[in-house]
Amino acid sequence: MTLAELKESAISDIKNAKDAKELEAAKVKYLGRKEGQLTNILKSLKNLPEEEKRKVGPEANALRQELEAALDKKLKELAKKSSVPSIDVTRPGVKVRAGHLHPLTLMENDIKTIFAGLNFSIVEGPEVETEHYNFEALNIPANHPVKDMWDTFWIDAQHLLRTHTSPMQIRYMETHKPPFQIIVPGRVFRFEATDASHEINFYQVEGLMIGEKVNLANFKYIISEFFRQLFGVNTEIRFRPSYFPFVEPGLEVDIKIQDPGSPLHNHWLEVMGAGMVHPKVLDGVKLNPKEFQGFAFGLGLERLAMIKYKIPDIRLFYSGDLRFINQF
Ligand code: PHE
Repeated sequence: MTLAELKESAISDIKNAKDAKELEAAKVKYLGRKEGQLTNILKSLKNLPEEEKRKVGPEANALRQELEAALDKKLKELAKKSSVPSIDVTRPGVKVRAGHLHPLTLMENDIKTIFAGLNFSIVEGPEVETEHYNFEALNIPANHPVKDMWDTFWIDAQHLLRTHTSPMQIRYMETHKPPFQIIVPGRVFRFEATDASHEINFYQVEGLMIGEKVNLANFKYIISEFFRQLFGVNTEIRFRPSYFPFVEPGLEVDIKIQDPGSPLHNHWLEVMGAGMVHPKVLDGVKLNPKEFQGFAFGLGLERLAMIKYKIPDIRLFYSGDLRFINQF
């Protein structure tokens, strides 16, 4: 093989090396200390006649330098390539998945918006309550059997997880002078067995309107307007007499929705307790029942969300199951 042929083959091998390993193989092939093709030629120089030696020697040495430089250059090229990842700018981006509000939050927001439009203020209260606010101040005596309706989790002898948002009626009346109208959305707790319509914690929205002449007709208007805005004009409401120690008279509100697509088509469902605030309760917060009166109500948020979104089981709200949550 002539030096020219060797050069051609070596340069092409170096140029075509795809990675450091192939480049190293090319180096060994031509410049390897033992069997490199050019190394062998250099080694055999000493056996050549003087005249040829003088001709081939410098050529072979020049080629060695040339190959070394080529190897060096290629090595740098390869290193650069592997450290810069190639970016395909035409590739579509990775979509960022946005979260969304829980159906109960959506329902709470709807309710707040409607009542804000009816000039109600929105307030919140503590989830850990005293026995006084949760029961006594609401005219529920310590050993009264009606307490069975509100069995709860006790923190210690005086503190419990509130069973309803009604304690906020008391807290608000103690610190504000009528007239006022408020709603109190919040989480409440019950110690009971769970099933499709019962949970150990759920959400209520309390309502309270106190003034000099507030009466049940006002309540009927407010609550009809609320349901009309929430579920549409085909919503009917009815009042049924009921008993809660902190109202007199007490009643329960049922709704029915004339819409074949609704679970409440031709079907009454109880959605809230209500009534005129009991004179004893007003007395307890130092409001004169002869001067002030008003109505209170408490509705279950889950129940309304179940109607609106056609959800069959209350436990789904708290299941943390993304297949459920992602539908809203
Ligand atoms: N707090 C009652 C309950 O949880 C509901 C209610 C509120 C009834 C206000 C009357 C007035 O069952």
